[in-house]
Amino acid sequence: MLSRPHLYNVLESVGFYKEAILKEHCCFEGNFIDVIIHSKINSLLYLRKANSDDCKLFFDWANDKDVRNNSFSPESIIWENHKAWFENKINSNQSLLFVLIYNNVPVGQIRLDKEGDVWVLDYSIDKKYRGKGLGKKIIQLVLERTSKPIKAVVKPANFASIKVFQQNNFLMTEGVYQNERVLIFNKK
Ligand SMILES: CC(C)(COP(=O)(O)OP(=O)(O)OC[C@H]1O[C@@H](n2cnc3c(N)ncnc32)[C@H](O)[C@@H]1OP(=O)(O)O)[C@@H](O)C(=O)NCCC(=O)NCCS
Repeated sequence: MLSRPHLYNVLESVGFYKEAILKEHCCFEGNFIDVIIHSKINSLLYLRKANSDDCKLFFDWANDKDVRNNSFSPESIIWENHKAWFENKINSNQSLLFVLIYNNVPVGQIRLDKEGDVWVLDYSIDKKYRGKGLGKKIIQLVLERTSKPIKAVVKPANFASIKVFQQNNFLMTEGVYQNERVLIFNKK
């Protein structure tokens, strides 16, 4: 049972993550209760949960030329549509959205959407920060936070992303998505 759900959300929104739950570890008012440990390594690079203040940031990243080219719907995104979509995503328990912070600067986003038994991954790094290893790192950080089965669908010409998933030991298969030949990366 979660006894401090609001506190946990606040901690996770600023980069702490749930490290362990010690079952019935502590006696409180005559009852044995769980102890939940949150931790944050003082690091220059970490993920924090996205919140409604990040709407414009995600909008700008989503409309980046390479992000659109590497997605399966290349048209520019309209602000009004994005606002509704983003609000829905951050409030859904079927999605997880994180911002990558590097030296206090937001430099990328990663999202997991539940589709059946797997969580479909979408991610991008701000154009100014690409080619510095942050793509590889953002995937590592999300894998440290979750043990969910993850799937990513990547265009065969997206060499940087293919390399990122290979470096993180995802299993690669070929497939078809929206009539296009694609590479599918899975992590169980
Ligand atoms: C894909 C993306 C997130 C990668 O982020 P990044 O921070 O640039 O990635 P990294 O710096 O970790 O680079 C990953 C590897 O790809 C390599 N790489 C980069 N561009 C490459 C290219 N055009 N061809 C071959 N390899 C390339 C890098 O050299 C690096 O390999 P290394 O570790 O052996 O040097 C980033 O390019 C991006 O945001 N692209 C637009 C959105 C997108 O495509 N998202 C993924 C959708 S599936």
